[in-house]
Amino acid sequence: MALCNTFDMRSTLQHIGSHGLGDMVKWFRSNFKLTSVPESPPLLINAGKSFQRTFLGASGVRVSVPILGAMGIGSSKWQSWVLDEEKGVELLKKAFDLGINTIDSANIYSNGESERIIESPCLLRRRDYVNQTGLSRAGIFNAVNASLERLDTPYIDILMIHRYDPQTPAEETMRALHDLVQSGKVRYLGASSMHTWQFAHLNHVAEKNGWTKFVVMEDEHSLLYREEEREVFGYCKYHDIGIIPYSPLSTGSLARPLGTDSLRSTLVKGTPFEVKLSEADKVIIARVEETATKKGWKRSQVALVWSQTKTVSPIVGVTQEDRLIESILGKDFVLTEEEIFIRFVF
Ligand SMILES: NC(=O)c1ccc[n+]([C@@H]2O[C@H](COP(=O)([O-])OP(=O)(O)OC[C@H]3O[C@@H](n4cnc5c(N)ncnc54)[C@H](OP(=O)(O)O)[C@@H]3O)[C@@H](O)[C@H]2O)c1
Repeated sequence: MALCNTFDMRSTLQHIGSHGLGDMVKWFRSNFKLTSVPESPPLLINAGKSFQRTFLGASGVRVSVPILGAMGIGSSKWQSWVLDEEKGVELLKKAFDLGINTIDSANIYSNGESERIIESPCLLRRRDYVNQTGLSRAGIFNAVNASLERLDTPYIDILMIHRYDPQTPAEETMRALHDLVQSGKVRYLGASSMHTWQFAHLNHVAEKNGWTKFVVMEDEHSLLYREEEREVFGYCKYHDIGIIPYSPLSTGSLARPLGTDSLRSTLVKGTPFEVKLSEADKVIIARVEETATKKGWKRSQVALVWSQTKTVSPIVGVTQEDRLIESILGKDFVLTEEEIFIRFVF
């Protein structure tokens, strides 16, 4: 048996996705038109090192260039030219320091001694990890196993992929997700924020192959951001996919008086996460305030009740107990048809 191992630290959570540095930069660029973030060359994943990473064939798994062959590391009792542990570890340390993180090994090399040395604990911190993100089979399995370990649970109820990964074939992603469901580690699948065609494509690939499809879409949606109503919501409603919106208060803009700031809004000023209000947004915020006053509600409650008329269950971003309690809305919280369809359209 031969094996090629790209040494991967396990990270990320139940939202798993394509947020490697390069991907993140591309995502920022395409979404926020950033000009100040330096772009990394396409295959140079680790910008500090002078070598490349490349995808292996038509897969999403990344390997270093070059790959280090480990036949020469193990035991001189097996072959007299082979490095014993001390020198083998030194060579591996150097390889990891240089950024070579893919090792070609085999169980027959030094009758297993080679593998034991590669796994030496003293090498752990030197490894450079590349297949932690993205939606390759390697990335997905690494991320899910790490989340299960951190959460100390045998399964995840709903695993959501965090954006689309253009560098991994859809078949690889959907097969890996299906296998996780089959294994019992994951029970249902969802996705978060992507173009409708991407979401539809992934679901189509799953359907064509008899694999598990998505049951949930997590998208940004609020009175100030309704773009997703154009396409994704229609697709989801047609296919009976539940929509759970994030940032239903537009990160707080809908819940505080116009022109006021909070710690969070101050901290994100000048970053891509700053909410820049248009004139139309300001009118909507004023109407939320009027409605709240008229009904004796909090502003946040107006925005959340409106959100619930269009989606299954908003994801609230509260960090205070009183706000948490305010976000639980009973049957008395009802907006009229006029309020839902006319008052909040500008
Ligand atoms: N899938 C994704 O890509 C994605 C992206 C973003 C978020 N999310 C998820 O969605 C969750 C919510 O996101 P979000 O924090 O942007 O949601 P949000 O509900 O739109 O904004 C939360 C902010 O609103 C303000 N707020 C909340 N309740 C309030 C109240 N009763 N009165 C006044 N202000 C209130 C607070 O702002 P201040 O603290 O400034 O006062 C709070 O930080 C996140 O925790 C995360 O789980 C997912």
